[in-house]
Amino acid sequence: MAEKNIALITGAGGGIGAGIAKKLSGDGFTVICVDKDANMVEQVSASIPGSDWFALDVTKESEIVALRDSLAKSVGNPTHVVNSAGVFFEHSLLTLEESEFDLIMNVNIKGMFFMCKAFIPAMVEAGKGNVINIASTAGLRGGRNRPIYSASKGAVVLFTRSIAIDFGSKGVRVNCVAPGLIDTPMASWISNDKEALSKWEKTIPAQRIGTPEDIGKAVSYLASDESSFVFGETLVVDGGGMA
Ligand SMILES: NC(=O)c1ccc[n+]([C@@H]2O[C@H](COP(=O)([O-])OP(=O)(O)OC[C@H]3O[C@@H](n4cnc5c(N)ncnc54)[C@H](O)[C@@H]3O)[C@@H](O)[C@H]2O)c1
Repeated sequence: MAEKNIALITGAGGGIGAGIAKKLSGDGFTVICVDKDANMVEQVSASIPGSDWFALDVTKESEIVALRDSLAKSVGNPTHVVNSAGVFFEHSLLTLEESEFDLIMNVNIKGMFFMCKAFIPAMVEAGKGNVINIASTAGLRGGRNRPIYSASKGAVVLFTRSIAIDFGSKGVRVNCVAPGLIDTPMASWISNDKEALSKWEKTIPAQRIGTPEDIGKAVSYLASDESSFVFGETLVVDGGGMA
């Protein structure tokens, strides 16, 4: 990579975010890891030479703006932003509390809105930039016990496509990756039950649960010039579960 590219990854304390951060660092990016969980993100950053970390809650616009302003003065504006922070828990429409609805929506889509609103202007000014949002196959079709999570991820897909149209002509490429089931703490609802997991694995072409590395590779492609004609795309990485 000829010039210095800076990739800011939210949710980098989590499984997929850490996988993305490691892959992009290997690709030559200067990596900035952010997460609400300071301990986790510090550990991830410690394993990635040359990276830095910050504790940040993506639902707080003021925290995002403060980080953006401080990065602009220190390392520079991120050329790439990967929005991987997210929350998932199984729920029923009939018993979900309003506060739980708000939590899912606030982290999964409002936080992405705050991040894009904060970081896209500098990309537009530079005439280039790259945003990758982590959606989910749950945002592409319905599933059991996840109506509001699915709605939040469906929102990520259409948010991505819409801002790809608004900012593509200004040099900013926006895409998303829709993972299927990936082996991280978020998948514990099934991975803790070995029998259920093995039964599920037999139903998909890849015959296995995905890994954070699988998602890191997809993000690496979208972050690179190899995908320079790809705008507003939803790259499904799910071992063929949606095939
Ligand atoms: N694991 C899967 O099977 C799977 C499948 C499809 C999509 N996804 C999506 O991938 C993304 C990453 O998930 P994961 O599997 O790594 O889960 P994870 O739970 O391991 O990581 C999620 C991270 O987001 C962070 N986070 C939560 N709320 C935050 C906030 N308000 N501000 C900043 N950080 C916050 C958490 O601290 C955690 O480190 C999520 O958007 C998730 O919806 C995961």
